[in-house]
Amino acid sequence: MENQKKIKILILDDEKQFTEELCEFFQNSGFEAFEANTLREARELWAIHEIDLLILDVRLPGVNGLDILQDVKIQFPAMEVIVVSAHGDMDTVIKAMRLGAFDYLRKPFRHIDIQIAIERTKKYLQIQRRLKQMEEKNSLISKSLEEKIERQFIGVSPQILDVFEQAITAANYPDANVLITGESGTGKENIARIIHFTSIRNRHIFCPVNSSAITESLLESEFFGHKKGSFTGAIADKMGFFEVCNEGTLFLDEIADMPFNLQAKILRATEEKVITRVGDTTPIYTDFRIISATNHDIENNVEKKKFRLDLLHRLNTLHIHIPPLRERPMDIQPLLDFFVDDYKTRFNRPNIRIGKDVYKALLTYDFPGNVRELRNMTERAIILCKGDLLGVHDFPLKQPEKILHENKESLNLKRAEMAMVRKALQNCQCNQQATAEVLGITRDALIRKMKKYSIVINKVERE
Ligand SMILES: Nc1ncnc2c1ncn2[C@@H]1O[C@H](COP(=O)(O)OP(=O)(O)OP(=O)(O)O)[C@@H](O)[C@H]1O
Ligand SMILES: [Mg+2]
Repeated sequence: MENQKKIKILILDDEKQFTEELCEFFQNSGFEAFEANTLREARELWAIHEIDLLILDVRLPGVNGLDILQDVKIQFPAMEVIVVSAHGDMDTVIKAMRLGAFDYLRKPFRHIDIQIAIERTKKYLQIQRRLKQMEEKNSLISKSLEEKIERQFIGVSPQILDVFEQAITAANYPDANVLITGESGTGKENIARIIHFTSIRNRHIFCPVNSSAITESLLESEFFGHKKGSFTGAIADKMGFFEVCNEGTLFLDEIADMPFNLQAKILRATEEKVITRVGDTTPIYTDFRIISATNHDIENNVEKKKFRLDLLHRLNTLHIHIPPLRERPMDIQPLLDFFVDDYKTRFNRPNIRIGKDVYKALLTYDFPGNVRELRNMTERAIILCKGDLLGVHDFPLKQPEKILHENKESLNLKRAEMAMVRKALQNCQCNQQATAEVLGITRDALIRKMKKYSIVINKVERE
């Protein structure tokens, strides 16, 4: 790990005895130390080694130490500098601090003085390294965007890079509605936030609404607002989501659950960008973009007449599909690294490491709960892990197939499983996606089980 690497210190002073002594002292104290007696030697050293800390005597013969400091801070902004000055030269010290020196020492100094200064710098350097690592951890978004979306977006696979690129395209078309599909926990809301916060709508509201979480009777007034007295409980005029989102983004989560009755009204509002509050007649113009998301097979809802085709067409001007985690195994390692780093900081367990076999084991798992499941299992593993090394046993990887061995007891289990699959298929009118969700497994896993138990859909339907 980067933060376990030794801190590199370079001492630049024209007194050979001084640099030698200090260099030895630092090496004995666990640092990697280099010495230079001229600016030229120093330049050669910092060109090859990534120096973390420069101890710079500002009274070098023939050169102005403050100029060196200024150049170093421009060329290597991450290099910290402690300046060494003569006793009584407070003026130079003040100038050096203004130019970005981290600390100063006055000659002659005791080893204890430099030790204290270094300890202070070391703590600072370690924090800086951690921040840098977080930034470099395969994150696809900038630090400032991360702050706005309040989440990270990690990934290296071609599939996720493609999703990310589509999100940026969607951000550039701020009036086009976007439909995001993908299994639960794949990061649909992350992508919706990235689209909003990288678009020109980003100074206005991003309003997430889960219509399945609002009672049907209240939905209309939640979306359109109402006039005081228009129904019992309407004690004051109220703005609805469409109005609140003027110039911003309305994020409709779980769109497939939108009650059929409301769909026609949502369609009209989306097409005309004009709404009227419940109990009122005044038209109100509002300019919003809709990003919607679903983990259901929405086309199937259309076929079953549960979702309006015209609304679907209106919502999916751009369609972004996020593939499940098992289809992009390349992302597992960077995501795991990221979550481990995140939780070990949160739980103050800085020495936690990941055992090599963990990555391999995770690759064999099919993550029905996708990235959310990986995040939750990492959190749990770090909480429960006794030592500092995370092992495979810390990760609960359910493998249903392994439970079924050919003995008497498991034969019953097997029968029970087969019966459950058939029952679930019947209850869900043979819709595989819905059945998989009812059973808490992936669609692929369901298909594997159907094959294993020779379950043919037509036959189930007739039963
Ligand atoms: N690429 C990623 N990088 C980092 N974190 C991610 C990524 N994808 C998902 N997550 C995290 O996984 C969790 C689930 O993501 P999110 O809520 O966006 O999923 P979702 O697709 O909306 O799921 P659902 O359908 O259940 O609502 C969140 O904590 C999110 O931050
Ligand atoms: Mg979601």
